[in-house]
Amino acid sequence: MDLGIAGRRAIVCASSKGLGRGCAEALAREGVDVVINGRNEAEVMATAKHIRENSRVTVTPVVADVSTEKGREALLKACPEPDILINNAGGPPPNDFRSLDEQQWLQGLVPNLVAPIMLIKATVDGMASRRFGRIVNITSRSVKTPLYHLPLSNAARAGLTGMVAGLARQVAKDNVIINNLLPGPFATERQMGPMKNRAQQAGMAVDDYVRQQTDLVPVKRFGTAEEFGNTCAYLCSMHASFIVGQNILMDGGGFASTI
Ligand SMILES: NC(=O)c1ccc[n+]([C@@H]2O[C@H](COP(=O)([O-])OP(=O)(O)OC[C@H]3O[C@@H](n4cnc5c(N)ncnc54)[C@H](OP(=O)(O)O)[C@@H]3O)[C@@H](O)[C@H]2O)c1
Repeated sequence: MDLGIAGRRAIVCASSKGLGRGCAEALAREGVDVVINGRNEAEVMATAKHIRENSRVTVTPVVADVSTEKGREALLKACPEPDILINNAGGPPPNDFRSLDEQQWLQGLVPNLVAPIMLIKATVDGMASRRFGRIVNITSRSVKTPLYHLPLSNAARAGLTGMVAGLARQVAKDNVIINNLLPGPFATERQMGPMKNRAQQAGMAVDDYVRQQTDLVPVKRFGTAEEFGNTCAYLCSMHASFIVGQNILMDGGGFASTI
């Protein structure tokens, strides 16, 4: 299927690794020029090189923290009029909500709530005036089902989801299509990194622990960044113009609901 987005320009936040990278690679395969991003310079440059070598698009690396105003300015300077915006940032650390004071709560909501809203604010009207825009927010399955150890994530993702629910319906008439993609367990660094510790805590060998975790997923494995990226690219395609303000859960069937 031709997604009809070759020649478009995308800002893909937090894309040197993991799910963001999967999105950047999928968009590049479709002929979209991509701005890729992360805070670690060596990793951003290595990913940019890899995407360049495997596509024919322009790849612009931006080493920046998307949760800062300066970082977002750098992304917008690299691509002042994006057709596509993929909002993403690292997820918050696990904690008990009681352990965070007011300032920590306010700061903790920035990467996954304030930063995407600021980037949407900076780009959505331009998209509307050009009568094409696609925004995909990478959120989390925690929008559907709370993850008890991640109160900051539960709060930030739900906040962004609520904000976007209204906006998506206001800008759809201008062919600006906003949706959220909700990852369940994907085999990225964020998911796999803590496995060793968790296995130790459970008194299990790492392989056995991973098998126990994948067994909880109906498809019996974790998702891949490539699968995630391909779905994201579809949501950015010309064919997705009637999918508005949806929360698309990719979790291998883990969240069991009839509807
Ligand atoms: N993987 C899962 O199973 C899963 C499930 C539910 C939700 N999620 C959410 O999906 C998002 C992506 O997760 P992932 O698994 O792809 O994580 P990951 O493998 O750790 O990759 C995160 C990427 O984001 C970059 N990044 C993080 N914070 C950034 C910031 N402030 N500014 C710019 N770049 C930043 C990282 O590079 P640098 O560190 O160099 O900046 C890296 O490229 C996270 O919010 C996560 O909570 C993931």
